Amino acid sequence: MTLSTFTLQPIGFVRTPFSETSQISKGIGAKHTREGTLEILPELEEGLFDIEGFSHLFVIWVFDRSDDYELISRPPTDNRPHGVFATRSPRRPNPIALTVVRLLARDGNRLTVRGVDMLDGTPILDIKPYLSSVPADELERGWIAEVESRSGGGEDRQWSDRG
Ligand SMILES: C[S@@+](CC[C@H](N)C(=O)[O-])C[C@H]1O[C@@H](n2cnc3c(N)ncnc32)[C@H](O)[C@@H]1O
Repeated sequence: MTLSTFTLQPIGFVRTPFSETSQISKGIGAKHTREGTLEILPELEEGLFDIEGFSHLFVIWVFDRSDDYELISRPPTDNRPHGVFATRSPRRPNPIALTVVRLLARDGNRLTVRGVDMLDGTPILDIKPYLSSVPADELERGWIAEVESRSGGGEDRQWSDRG
């Protein structure tokens, strides 16, 4: 039988310096350099065995403070609309997010990482080692490459802005 609905439980929560989305940098060239902590539930700590050898991790998490979705998004990086699945919008049908972070240290069930872009207290669904496998010369960046080649693009807007 194939499941058509799923119930997921957080494996932990992220501690970050961000209480408001406006504190998180956005737009072309935005750098995510702030540190945070992935606090994994104590009963799942054994699942972190051998993670220290990886420099970078995928963190899969939930946009738990998004309350709706839009199939057409207007990213802060561009004034033109794009389909939600061609963006990283927080307002998506399944509010799932993916961030690549640098692993700096482990202390038991706590991972110190750099590169967080989520609000404090955000639930974590999963962590996986980041292994890049796409050669740089094969990577195509779609509409983002067009925006990068233009100047401007509304870097100060937020995802929740309309218009
Ligand atoms: C553009 S999304 C990208 C997230 C992730 N790197 C990805 O690609 O799926 C990041 C933005 O989501 C918003 N955000 C962060 N944490 C959130 C949360 N817990 N619930 C809802 N929105 C959140 C903030 O506006 C933040 O700048």
